[in-house]
Amino acid sequence: MRFTNTFFTALLACVASVSSQATVIDQRQPNPCAVHWASPHQQEKIFEDLVENLYRTRNFTRAYTHFAVDYIQHNPSAVDGFNASFNAVVSLIGDPSVKVQVLRTAFSAPYGWVHSRIDGFDGAERPSAVADIMRFNGTCVQEHWDVIQEMPAQSVNPHPLF
Ligand SMILES: *[C@@H]1O[C@H](CO)[C@@H](O)[C@H](O)[C@H]1NC(C)=O
Ligand SMILES: *[C@@H]1O[C@H](CO)[C@@H](O)[C@H](O)[C@H]1NC(C)=O
Ligand SMILES: *[C@@H]1O[C@H](CO)[C@@H](O)[C@H](O)[C@H]1NC(C)=O
Repeated sequence: MRFTNTFFTALLACVASVSSQATVIDQRQPNPCAVHWASPHQQEKIFEDLVENLYRTRNFTRAYTHFAVDYIQHNPSAVDGFNASFNAVVSLIGDPSVKVQVLRTAFSAPYGWVHSRIDGFDGAERPSAVADIMRFNGTCVQEHWDVIQEMPAQSVNPHPLF
């Protein structure tokens, strides 16, 4: 039985670690990012950390350390600024029942792109395709654009949306 107990303990630990990624969403608001000079390579590393924490583990507390206080927002449904952006992200993807999947990313300084699939986005019944474009200013994300498309009921081609 010793082996069995060890096996089940290991299995439970494994299940717990997987589910903690999906369910523990850190939503404590951090201080905004202070703009310092950064090389394109440093910006790319910051972008990777942002993608990991904003979309994959959804640790908003860490992700938002990369956003400037005077963040410029182009999404017409949201206002400028760090606090407004933090609050919008918490309300849109802060619930673990909303599923976020990163499909592809690209970085070409000072711009980072994220193409994602979000199930349960902003009350949508079907999955949404989202493209986020972020401009860096030194170490911080300074400006954001997005394009959002809910999957239509019908498609005129045989290819899946994702
Ligand atoms: C989120 O990131 C912060 C800063 O890196 C860290 O202190 C915290 O433990 C993380 N939260 C979770 C739930 O992992
Ligand atoms: C942003 O939120 C923080 C924490 O809640 C608050 O201290 C600060 O005054 C807010 N700033 C603005 C510009 O609303
Ligand atoms: C970068 O941030 C600094 C400090 O907030 C600001 O003065 C400057 O205008 C910003 N530059 C760009 C290109 O956004």
